[in-house]
Amino acid sequence: MQKVVIHRAGGYDELKVEEAAVPAPGRGQVRIDVKAAGVNYADTTVRMGLYASAKEYVGWPITPGFEVAGTIGAVGEGVTDLAVGAPVFAVTRFGGYASHVVVDRAYVFRKPDSLSFEQAAALPAVYMTAWYALFELAHPRRGAKVLVHSAAGGVGSALVQMAKRAGAEVTGVVGRSAKVAVVQALGADHVIDKSASDLWREAEAIAPRGFDVILDANGVSTLRGSYEHLTRPGKLVIYGFASMLPKTGGKPNWPKLALDYVRTPRFNPLDLTNQSKSVLAFNLSYLFDRVELFELALGEILDWLGKGEIAPPQVTTYPLAEVARAHADIESGKTTGKLVLVP
Ligand SMILES: NC(=O)c1ccc[n+]([C@@H]2O[C@H](COP(=O)([O-])OP(=O)(O)OC[C@H]3O[C@@H](n4cnc5c(N)ncnc54)[C@H](OP(=O)(O)O)[C@@H]3O)[C@@H](O)[C@H]2O)c1
Repeated sequence: MQKVVIHRAGGYDELKVEEAAVPAPGRGQVRIDVKAAGVNYADTTVRMGLYASAKEYVGWPITPGFEVAGTIGAVGEGVTDLAVGAPVFAVTRFGGYASHVVVDRAYVFRKPDSLSFEQAAALPAVYMTAWYALFELAHPRRGAKVLVHSAAGGVGSALVQMAKRAGAEVTGVVGRSAKVAVVQALGADHVIDKSASDLWREAEAIAPRGFDVILDANGVSTLRGSYEHLTRPGKLVIYGFASMLPKTGGKPNWPKLALDYVRTPRFNPLDLTNQSKSVLAFNLSYLFDRVELFELALGEILDWLGKGEIAPPQVTTYPLAEVARAHADIESGKTTGKLVLVP
């Protein structure tokens, strides 16, 4: 088998494609012969040694990857409901960038025929992130004004669609003009191209009283503005900090990172209360043990996909051997939709 291994924190050179013995499933596990593995922005921060849960759960060396799709290659003792050859997709807490993956049965889901392996591998992380942010945390009502940063990206594309499905009035923000059409096609009511116009002036024109919900994974570059542009009551959901990191070169700029850490807003509980604004945050990789949440989320997501109420992710594929190019591309801020590796 082949897998991508990172032995120490660093740039693209640290992504080594290595040969290893095909793993055997233990009790309650299955082996998936992988046809596609999802790439997430977070994987690049795993490579840089900045992703806390990677250090906590795995350390070095690490194979990144939160999701795969493929066919069942072998079943371990006690697994009776999945046969060899069945098409599936799975959630992995790291380890997904590989041609063969062993996973606990609980994290494996049957692949609907309507999804390609690439689409199924692209689905779990970003769609569950969007589902969790919107329906566990924010609960937008029909007609709510929702602002989605990075709306053409993996999570952003899912957020726009799910917020529209929930009846919200959705404003998508993008960092490049080429992404505007993508967000319009996803169904957003308004798109702000912050590379061509003033983000917050445009946002104020769309929502003079502020937004009911803002979803922000930029971190320091927009967090203060996001908080200030909430209505009362309003909810800011924080789930990432991409703006702390460079778009080229693959390595952190340590002085900038330290400065951005210091500049990241701290929210005062007294102000939050008096202003009737909530700040919510989460990292899905720490919720891995909550299998029931994954089942609930994916159950609803697959139902909405089946009914055509949301669309599958738009996917760009890369051979596993070109993992470095996939990382450089997602870091560049130029990509839209999801990137997927094909072993
Ligand atoms: N908390 C969680 O559980 C969780 C789960 C999944 C993802 N996330 C976070 O959600 C965000 C989106 O993840 P994704 O995998 O779907 O990626 P993505 O949105 O497809 O790509 C990242 C996007 O972030 C924006 N961005 C802003 N500053 C950036 C910078 N300095 N460098 C690169 N991109 C920058 C860019 O879009 P614009 O320029 O158009 O804004 C870029 O296209 C990431 O921050 C990720 O860490 C969090």
